Amino acid sequence: MIIIVALMSSCVHSEKPRSGSATAGNKGFAHGVASGDPTEQAVILWTRYEPIESESAKVDFEVSTDKGFETIVAAGSAKAEAASNYCVKVDVQGLTAGMSYYYRFKSGDDYSPVGKTKTLPENVDRLKIGVVNCAKYSGGYYHAYEELAKMEDIDVVIHVGDYIYENGASKPGSSYWPSTQATGRQHDPPRECISLEDYRTRYSQYKLDSSLQKLHARFPMIVIWDDHEIAMIKHMTDPDTGEKIPNPNWEERRDNSIIAYHEWLPLRPKAFETIYRSFQFGDLVNLMMLDARVCCKSEVTKTQASLEDTSRHIIGNAQLQWIMDGVNTADADWNVFGNQLLISLKGNGWERWQGFPYDRDRFLSFVEANPKRNFVFTTGNAHNPHHYIVLNEDKTDTLLHEFLPGSVSSGNNAEKAFYDPTILAKEEKRLTEAENVLWFHQDSHGFIVLDVTKEELRAKWYFVSTIREKEYALLEPYAYRLPSNGL
Ligand SMILES: [Fe+2]
Repeated sequence: MIIIVALMSSCVHSEKPRSGSATAGNKGFAHGVASGDPTEQAVILWTRYEPIESESAKVDFEVSTDKGFETIVAAGSAKAEAASNYCVKVDVQGLTAGMSYYYRFKSGDDYSPVGKTKTLPENVDRLKIGVVNCAKYSGGYYHAYEELAKMEDIDVVIHVGDYIYENGASKPGSSYWPSTQATGRQHDPPRECISLEDYRTRYSQYKLDSSLQKLHARFPMIVIWDDHEIAMIKHMTDPDTGEKIPNPNWEERRDNSIIAYHEWLPLRPKAFETIYRSFQFGDLVNLMMLDARVCCKSEVTKTQASLEDTSRHIIGNAQLQWIMDGVNTADADWNVFGNQLLISLKGNGWERWQGFPYDRDRFLSFVEANPKRNFVFTTGNAHNPHHYIVLNEDKTDTLLHEFLPGSVSSGNNAEKAFYDPTILAKEEKRLTEAENVLWFHQDSHGFIVLDVTKEELRAKWYFVSTIREKEYALLEPYAYRLPSNGL
């Protein structure tokens, strides 16, 4: 991986592109561009450039305040080479807070597509955040990414996990098979990802998708991983029988998955296994992206005794302290969390927050002790869109709202009903009876947009009418207005 601090050169007039991108197969700039993890002065820019004939290539980048690249405010170069799978990441410094920028890369005569990004503001009155998750390639078309990319005035997109899936090819009889058949979208490699090469191939496939490329080119994205990026389970699938079998080289596999994650996504991690981090949008929103999967989580043990064990964690003491310090220091009107696993439910759910009541209770005590902080969770993993609330112990107050987008393309309950027809009725009953579910849907895919001002947070769920056909419609089934201090 290459991270280079940009050399500043103000107001340099750029040359016009001399030719289009040479993108034979996966080569050239075939995977587009991306940006992410903005600060007030910096942003990560990403591309991949695989030279057609040589082993490595010098890749230049330019950042401009205008689309025509008349005024270049930052420029520099990096090296694309096999050691980092030809992925190029640049941490451009010296930018101005709250500004939109255009950027592009070039190598020789090849130019990348132009991307647009935005730094964090010092002060801001209104913020729009897109929320996406769970995009299994073989599940269907990425219409949700396509539609979010068309939205106006989105400041940042957060991806709350399952950017890729490590699973092998979908097969006849599986719930994904109807989608795979309809779309022809089959996983590459056609086996479960184990080696670094497998993971790189999988990211390459996902990032060749034109809708995902459009979304990345349009807005900065802040990502966190869920289970499917990072080989959570210590088993692998036997390619012959399809059975889960122990993987003696699990640590190596997990390292492979994390190496590829850092190569292919535009994040600025604290460390190899530490990705929880925060972003402050003036004094309006403190955005905290959590890790409830890797850095600090105890092994999931499905025993009653484990629920009493205060040495078992989902986010750990250090991350919990980081949250409390971050909320207090930011002193923002809203505290928005990106989070992998549902926090609202109690009861069964061993891998979720409720499987780790020591951490959950301490976090919710902190929330309850800070009633004016406006805590909002955006949570992934569920595949079906929901709006939950967490109530206090005597059910007189709402502690926080939890918003779950529909998946981009991973199987929702209606699709899972392919192999378990009873699932829809069971879920309908359970969710209708739950006191803390305000809204849910079982047959949809889409995303959420949060529109935040000092006075209110509006959450709007968007659906696409199908992911199995190229033609579709955009639907707006549900919206919720949350007044500040109105929890
Ligand atoms: Fe998922």
